[in-house]
Formats: sequence, C-alpha cells, structure tokens
Amino acid sequence: MDVLNTSSIMFAVIGDPIKHSMSPIMMNHAFNISGFNGVYTSSLVKSDQLGAAIEGIRALGFGGVNVTIPHKVDVMSYCDDIHEDARAIGAVNTIVNDNGKLIGYNTDGIGYVRSLMEETGTDIKDKVIVMVGAGGAARGVVYALSLQQPKEIVIANRTLAKAEQLADGIHDVPTRAISLDSVSHDIINEADIIINNTSVGMYPHIDETPINLHEIVKPVIVSDLIYNPLETKWLREAKAKGCVTHSGLGMFIYQGAYAFEYWTKKQAPVEEMRKVVYESLQNRSKE
Ligand code: ATR
Repeated sequence: MDVLNTSSIMFAVIGDPIKHSMSPIMMNHAFNISGFNGVYTSSLVKSDQLGAAIEGIRALGFGGVNVTIPHKVDVMSYCDDIHEDARAIGAVNTIVNDNGKLIGYNTDGIGYVRSLMEETGTDIKDKVIVMVGAGGAARGVVYALSLQQPKEIVIANRTLAKAEQLADGIHDVPTRAISLDSVSHDIINEADIIINNTSVGMYPHIDETPINLHEIVKPVIVSDLIYNPLETKWLREAKAKGCVTHSGLGMFIYQGAYAFEYWTKKQAPVEEMRKVVYESLQNRSKE
C-alpha cells in the first residue's frame, strides 16, 4: 500500500526506550506486501503516561499496539479483556482494538515456539527441555512450550527462587527448578532442546556464554532468544559440536507475525518480514 489516506489504520509499538525497535520496519513492510492499508510507528511512552497512551488507542481509533519493556505487565490493568494465555503468563505484548474494546494478548511465547518448530523442523511433544533463565522472557516461553506436551522442562537459573516460582506456575508438564551452578553433564545430555533465556551473550557482552556446552555428547537443538548478535558465541560453540542451532530472530519475527494476524485477519508474510529485519540488522551492524 503506497498511499496512506483517511482509510489507513494506525498501529504503533509503545515502550521506553523505543528508538532501536525493529518493529516499525518489519510491520510496515508486512502491511505493504499484504496490501493492507495500515501504518505502524513507535511511541516513547513513560510509565506515568501509560494509562493515557492506552486510552489514546481508543480515542484515536488505532487498530492496536505492541507493548514492550517496561510496560508488558502494567498494561494489563488498562485492557478491557485479556486472553487466557496472556493472563497465565502475566504479561501482554499485543493489544487489539476490537470496536473500542481493548483485548490484550501475549504473542512472545507462541511466537518463539512456532519459530523453533518451523525453523528446526522439530516437534516439542515428549522432548526434554533445559531452559536457562527465569526472567520475563522465559515466562512466555515456558508457558508456550508446556502447551506442546514436552516430557519434562528443567528450569536452571542463577537465582534459584525465580526458577522455582516459574516451575510452580506450570501444572500439566513435569517441571524441575535448579540453580545454574548445578547444570551437570547428565542434565545437558538428557536434554533434547537447550534454550538460553538470559541476556548473557547479548551485545555488547558478546564473548559471554550462559552455560558450558563442552561436555555435550549427543547433538541436540540449541536455541538462543538473543538476536543481537544474530549468532551468539554460545550458538557458534553449539554448531561446532554438531548441534542444530536456532537464533532469537525467529521469535521476534513470529511474535510480530501473530500480532499482524490478529489485527489484519490475514496470514503474515513471514519470510518477507524476516528478510527486511535481517537486512536492517546487517546494515545496523555496519554503522
Ligand atoms: P528478560 O525480560 O529479558 O527475561 P529479566 O526479567 O531481567 O529480563 O531476566 C533476565 C534473566 O537473565 C534472568 O533469568 C537472570 O537471572 P537472575 O534471575 O538470577 O537475575 C538472567 N541473567 C542475567 N544476567 C545473568 C548473568 N550474568 N548470569 C546468569 N544469568 C543472568
């Protein structure tokens, strides 16, 4: 859609900070490719303006917004309705304006799982998963993984109490919480999928790795939620050991794809979205 007009539907990502968000580039490209008459921008919203900003969605007739750090939890109290997944996770990253009714969704976890399955060709059912990290990002991921009936989820975190809290919230799948120090050779080698949910290895600390994979004896799937850098040192180590690797870029693309689908009721042009984000990240790393 090259021409914006009075029929164009407005969307935005709101957060603080917001300057480096890749969402506007990805979503406007998706709207264009799909012939959807929409426009997507970003707004820096301070915490004390969050309520006013959400009320503005209704007042200005926006189609919806994405919500990012630090508002994903607080925004829930301003939604008229919250999807059960988002309620279980305790965070909202997408709001749909359904004729003035603001409905909160969480597309982060389901976006991650769709990306993991489609990009690695794996099934989660009956798999043993080791999750490293128990922060905000891990909440959505663990919940979405649990819906796929894995055999077991082991949550390893530096702060054991946070791993225990996360494990306590999962009821349908056997879940175990351990401290990061006790990730042993046996635990690594019982795993089918190992996932880094921490920020360890993210730019600018690109030489750090979340756990040691030295002792891995069978090739497993190793996945990192980080997408800056596109391939972390940890993923390079895993690849060198013959593991199938999966980067965090897919999670970002698919959380956007789900939001796109909720808003437009059309199938998201996932590969085009990936391409434009990938190119932007490449250009950014050259700056
Ligand atoms: P996010 O919303 O991105 O998940 P977060 O909620 O702050 O951010 O969570 C960050 C995760 O990375 C946590 O699991 C954190 O461990 P703690 O719960 O012990 O804080 C983990 N993390 C961050 N820096 C770490 C480090 N240097 N070593 C190990 N774990 C780290």
